[in-house]
Amino acid sequence: MKYLAKIQSLRKSVEWWMTGPTTREHLETRIAGDSEKKMAEIKCVGVVGAGQMGSGIAQLAATNGLDVWLMDADRDALSRATAAISSSVKRFVSKGLIAKEAGDDAMHRLRLTSNLQDLCSADIIVEAIVESEDVKKKLFKDLDGIAKSSAILASNTSSISITRLASATQRPSQVIGMHFMNPPPIMKLVEIIRGTDTSDETFIATKALAERFGKTTVCSQDYAGFIVNRILMPMINEAFHTLYTGVATKEDIDSGMKHGTNHPMGPLELADLIGLDVCLSVMKVLHQGLGDSKYAPCPLLVQYVDAGRLGRKRGIGVYDYRNATQKPLTASPRL
Ligand SMILES: NC(=O)c1ccc[n+]([C@@H]2O[C@H](COP(=O)([O-])OP(=O)(O)OC[C@H]3O[C@@H](n4cnc5c(N)ncnc54)[C@H](O)[C@@H]3O)[C@@H](O)[C@H]2O)c1
Repeated sequence: MKYLAKIQSLRKSVEWWMTGPTTREHLETRIAGDSEKKMAEIKCVGVVGAGQMGSGIAQLAATNGLDVWLMDADRDALSRATAAISSSVKRFVSKGLIAKEAGDDAMHRLRLTSNLQDLCSADIIVEAIVESEDVKKKLFKDLDGIAKSSAILASNTSSISITRLASATQRPSQVIGMHFMNPPPIMKLVEIIRGTDTSDETFIATKALAERFGKTTVCSQDYAGFIVNRILMPMINEAFHTLYTGVATKEDIDSGMKHGTNHPMGPLELADLIGLDVCLSVMKVLHQGLGDSKYAPCPLLVQYVDAGRLGRKRGIGVYDYRNATQKPLTASPRL
């Protein structure tokens, strides 16, 4: 009898545990509630790097009613970013996608700086600088010293380990990957990457912010290339091999993939849009991080980057954009 009573009492405790406030569901609701509180506090977004990604992320935040500090070490990059954001916002207004007042408001919310210290008031800082682990780590260390203790530090990295970036800070639970696609104001996806120590609060707040921007999110564990670039970059690298080995012209490679597999852009055009330097960096991270020779960067991709042919942002990559009427470059008779 005594034994039965003990079992019944144990069962009651288990039932209480399963239905009580400590169940996973309750815990998630509580965490979500906390993060909503935290989200409500996200009023100011810092963005570091005013290149094609950083300027797009800053635009998204400003057009969604947040104050923005956009920082870049290069003042020319800040001028280019202002022009790009202004003309993109005007396009959104002229297409009726946002109201004129919202567009004007967004431009007022945007502040530019080349002083990292100005990001001290940000509730979340999204890093979008060059794809180099050493440079990013140094930045994360500096940001850790500057940002509010409650601030989230997010990286837009295409492939670098969030766990290793987090290790440069004293707040690894508040470091996360927030990987926007190019161009950020248009593309629907944000890939969220949890480092080893990223907290649930940080994850939920980051996901909620992406959703506030109208994005669909996916969550990836922290392995080289995450989801999207793990699959996309080897395809782009293979397109370079196809060109390199003379299988086909660049136009036929792109046309084949567009019309044969329903991709909106060919892989070589896409590489030019992304930036050949970014593609090369990601391939190196995949190669090193996953240890398989199939990820070795194509020599032609390496050579183009060595030549400064970085894609659209430099006016020349696989294709030549410097003069729209000019015929595409034929760099070598083989290509
Ligand atoms: N290009 C893409 O399609 C794409 C897509 C998703 C993610 N990403 C990632 O986003 C990041 C930025 O890529 P991007 O294409 O915008 O590059 P980009 O070359 O267009 O811009 C990078 C900017 O960062 C600035 N910068 C570099 N080091 C800095 C520092 N220490 N402090 C402040 N500013 C600094 C540069 O002046 C430059 O303006 C990279 O990590 C890249 O992998 C790129």
